[in-house]
Amino acid sequence: MAIIEAERITKVFNPRSRKGAVTALSDLSLDVREGEIFGLLGPNGAGKTTFIKVLLQIVYPTSGSARMLAAPIGDARAKARVGYLPENHRYPDFLTGAQVLRYFGKLSGMEGATLDQRVDDRLRLVGMHEWHATKIRKYSKGMMQRIGLAQALINDPQLVMLDEPTDGVDPLGRKEIRDLLVRLRNEGKTVFLNSHLLSEVEMICDRVAILNKGRLVRMGSVSELTMQENLYRIEIHGTVPQELVTQWEATRMNVQQESGALTVALADVNELNGFIDRLRGSGVLISAITQKRQSLEDMFIDVISREETA
Ligand SMILES: Nc1ncnc2c1ncn2[C@@H]1O[C@H](COP(=O)(O)OP(=O)(O)O)[C@@H](O)[C@H]1O
Ligand SMILES: [Mg+2]
Repeated sequence: MAIIEAERITKVFNPRSRKGAVTALSDLSLDVREGEIFGLLGPNGAGKTTFIKVLLQIVYPTSGSARMLAAPIGDARAKARVGYLPENHRYPDFLTGAQVLRYFGKLSGMEGATLDQRVDDRLRLVGMHEWHATKIRKYSKGMMQRIGLAQALINDPQLVMLDEPTDGVDPLGRKEIRDLLVRLRNEGKTVFLNSHLLSEVEMICDRVAILNKGRLVRMGSVSELTMQENLYRIEIHGTVPQELVTQWEATRMNVQQESGALTVALADVNELNGFIDRLRGSGVLISAITQKRQSLEDMFIDVISREETA
């Protein structure tokens, strides 16, 4: 089931200003499925934050429509089942972590023992229980993000929307946040996150969408996006005879040699087998063949730079 369905969303800020008009989102359609961790990726200014704000009706789309939790966006009952961690959030720094959570818990309609219990539970969940009585102003960036996450989870939401959840957090803290997001997913929640940190997203996201200048450039599972269909790495024993190398060069084949392995771009399985036959025919022994994967970051840079030159 789709938890978020956005259809052809366009957002133009300052539409009537001749110089100040900014198209933050352009004809963006995407869907987020129940129980997945979905990552919306893109460079700064790509429109990621604007998209979350459109879904939560913090800003209104110029055109297009969207549904969230089976209701049109703006539906108050659906929004009550969403948790939101804004980018660069600021809570009043004279409050303690526990006070911030109590405040947001009350906003969500909780009180009494239920509220006490929930605040305590969320503090423990994000590893901030020890610091519950410390004022926010003494918190590090990582602690702020963790309290922000606890805030986003205070109403036990079905859908959690996190805008750059690991921004400014040290590597250990980032790992803890990733583990927490996976745990939330395993509990059946849907996690939607914005990030420019690709190597992290790759580790936990079920699917990702890549946004550039407000446009969707790719969407799919991480493995779909990073699998280069026709790049193979062939591990070999022995050396490739010069005549074979000369033949590759003459036929303009894209073969890269390193010690003990070749990387080759081929059109299909037939070509791969022909290539293997010629290698073996030349006395080269093969110990392994793997389809080569790019990292999400390689793919991202590739896609964005192609867009720039297009
Ligand atoms: N309230 C606003 N008024 C005018 N322009 C805005 C506003 N909010 C965002 N923008 C512009 O929209 C574009 C997308 O911004 P944003 O959604 O924050 O990107 P991201 O989160 O991917 O970094 C940027 O060019 C930004 O300057
Ligand atoms: Mg942003």
